[in-house]
Amino acid sequence: MEHRISQYPEFGRLSLTPGHSPQPADSFDTAFGIVQSEVNAARCFGCHSTTPAQPGVHCQRCHGEGVDHPKEPSIKRTKAVALCAECHRSPNREYASPEPEIEDPASIRFAPVGLTASKCYTASKGALSCVTCHDPHTDAKPSMSYDARCESCHAKETRKSCPRETNCARCHMPRSSPIPLLTFTDHRIR
Ligand code: HEC
Ligand code: HEC
Ligand code: HEC
Ligand code: HEC
Ligand code: HEC
Ligand code: HEC
Repeated sequence: MEHRISQYPEFGRLSLTPGHSPQPADSFDTAFGIVQSEVNAARCFGCHSTTPAQPGVHCQRCHGEGVDHPKEPSIKRTKAVALCAECHRSPNREYASPEPEIEDPASIRFAPVGLTASKCYTASKGALSCVTCHDPHTDAKPSMSYDARCESCHAKETRKSCPRETNCARCHMPRSSPIPLLTFTDHRIR
């Protein structure tokens, strides 16, 4: 059962779970939320746990066994986008809508969808990856500066029209909230 009410830690309050109808339920069962099929429930564990018995995304989920003593880099940077997209989602080939997926404001939730549509990604031939900006071993910190990452490819001298020097992400990766109470960062750099 996916409960129709979720806790939103950022706001310290309960509210409707994304994807659930605000309308009164038509049966006692659905008043609690959406009854998940076995297959769907298993999918939750596929992204939110390492094994069904080990909640959270731990070392083995990304590295396989033997991560403590890697002999050589076990994950190539260029492969990281595909690895991260296993859970953060790659573009959906069967996206059923008249508008392209990338134009749907809700797609901001899926960082790989935006990033892989960016010129930074398509024109840099595999040089740009999720781990260019994120250390997969620590939490992302909203206060952190990403400017050095941008400037590793966009040196000051080569930028022609850009009006400002700092906090590149504020203008080129703005945050927005297409789903109430959840804020995401636009990974379609433009
Ligand atoms: C394809 C992988 C995937 C599946 C399947 C999936 N999730 Fe998630 N879930 C994520 C990712 C990635 C995030 C973090 C980014 C976001 O919020 O979209 C997340 C975020 C969440 C959050 C918010 C956590 C927080 O701290 O804010 C909840 C709650 C959640 N998922 C519950 C579920 C439930 C329940 C299911 C099954 C019905 C499920 N998820 C299925 C990948 C997945
Ligand atoms: C979300 C996926 C993910 C998880 C979870 C994760 N790692 Fe990594 N790890 C990576 C990626 C991707 C790289 C390559 C980073 C790079 O090239 O900058 C990496 C690199 C490393 C390296 C450097 C050598 C190598 O194999 O490339 C070590 C050591 C390492 N991780 C250990 C760990 C340990 C220990 C844990 C658990 C505490 C862990 N990792 C959890 C994704 C992950
Ligand atoms: C791995 C290298 C790389 C990184 C890192 C990178 N970019 Fe780019 N970016 C590119 C390339 C290559 C292009 C295409 C340049 C061209 O067409 O002249 C580009 C294009 C752009 C454009 C123009 C987009 C358009 O649609 O015309 C902007 C704006 C931009 N980058 C900003 C940023 C910002 C801000 C960051 C950091 C958050 C960043 N880039 C990080 C390589 C990168
Ligand atoms: C096995 C599924 C899985 C994989 C693989 C995965 N993630 Fe996540 N990631 C999640 C889930 C689930 C959350 C939400 C956790 C929550 O909020 O409780 C999350 C949250 C995040 C966050 C935001 C939370 C924070 O503050 O740090 C970042 C950034 C992130 N992941 C980056 C990455 C990167 C980069 C990779 C690839 C190296 C990656 N993830 C691979 C499942 C995954
Ligand atoms: C105050 C908002 C703002 C900030 C901060 C900002 N930019 Fe821009 N940037 C713009 C705008 C607006 C344009 C488009 C200008 C135009 O087309 O006339 C642009 C254009 C660009 C372009 C493409 C055109 C060119 O000049 O090559 C790149 C690349 C770029 N910015 C990179 C960066 C980087 C890297 C940073 C951080 C060091 C940054 N920007 C900070 C607003 C900003
Ligand atoms: C050019 C830099 C850059 C790259 C590359 C990048 N991110 Fe991010 N990411 C950011 C910034 C900036 C934020 C917002 C500030 C923060 O949370 O640290 C962010 C935030 C996030 C979050 C937290 C939720 C949100 O939307 O704010 C997740 C999850 C995430 N990124 C996943 C990914 C994944 C997966 C990839 C690869 C497909 C990726 N990012 C590639 C810069 C980047």
